[in-house]
Amino acid sequence: MEQSRIALPIGAALDRFIKAKQDEFAYATGELSQLLRDIALAGKVVNREINKAGLVDISGSTGMENIQGEDQQKLDNLANIRFIRALTKGGEACVIVSEEDEHINDLKNHGKYVICIDPLDGSSNINVNVSIGTIFSVFRRITEPGTPITREDVLQPGKNQVAAGYLLYGSSTMLVYTTGHGVNGFTYEPSLGEYFLSHPDMKIPEDGSIYSVNEGNYYDFAPEVQEYIDECRKRRYSARYIGSLVSDFHRNLLKGGIYLYPATETMKQGKLRLMVESNALSFVAEQAGGFASSGTGRVLELVPESLHERNPLYIGSKNMVREVENYISGQSK
Ligand code: AHG
Ligand code: MN
Ligand code: MN
Repeated sequence: MEQSRIALPIGAALDRFIKAKQDEFAYATGELSQLLRDIALAGKVVNREINKAGLVDISGSTGMENIQGEDQQKLDNLANIRFIRALTKGGEACVIVSEEDEHINDLKNHGKYVICIDPLDGSSNINVNVSIGTIFSVFRRITEPGTPITREDVLQPGKNQVAAGYLLYGSSTMLVYTTGHGVNGFTYEPSLGEYFLSHPDMKIPEDGSIYSVNEGNYYDFAPEVQEYIDECRKRRYSARYIGSLVSDFHRNLLKGGIYLYPATETMKQGKLRLMVESNALSFVAEQAGGFASSGTGRVLELVPESLHERNPLYIGSKNMVREVENYISGQSK
């Protein structure tokens, strides 16, 4: 049974917020809260690594590295190590699916949660000082904790997510997440080492006038998708494409817009990965009043058949996503 809701003010610290939300649910055991804290902590560590990425190159070139030699690693590997370490130590996750790992990380413990993660999204932007992110999904395992992990524990549809979100390492670092009761955004204050509520109950405008797509692929898109993009141009929409899904998604969440990564001639299922990219942002989008489609239906209904499966993605303002779906199905004619 839900108890009375406490509205925390802007500026509330993340820990206080998580605790207050947990107290709203009579039977909450605190495990999901702890998991969110573990993710937030790993985000701080990755944020620190990212901010000294230039320096890492310098220390690398002078032969300086830490004992594990980790400074020499690519930042997406390093982020992967940091998140897996934090989640392993935390003990709430039993298995981690990562974009960086071909196979599952079976933690062989009694944890209840399945985590899917893109430790560093937008990696082509790392070396050019442009915003990047981390994307995460949380599922409850289906089989009994402590028993061997099964295929059905791991390959769950996005609609089963119990929490999801992202970290954005941008002009400031943010954590945006949902546990299925709306979306809240926290901004990291590096001098205090703490996240504070800055964007309570985020809502994406139902309509927008920004479209985000790699238009260099235009001639490889299906004619229906080309027609939609032509229409965006005719309406003089703004084209905005950072090339980091998290950053593009976040901008559109705040301002209203659509992000598209359609199928192309060479990438028949598009580029983005269902389990570590599309699912989490689709859950956040819906919780903020937006929508996410694979072009033919709701992303959150897709049941993955393999860990690194890809899907075409159309995500953002509800009416914009519906419109592109209509183009794809031919109903706009
Ligand atoms: P990642 O860095 O995790 O591999 O993801 C990159 C993704 C996504 O962040 C971005 O929107 C997209 O790739 C960009 O792809 P293009 O360079 O093909 O536009
Ligand atoms: Mn990615
Ligand atoms: Mn990545």
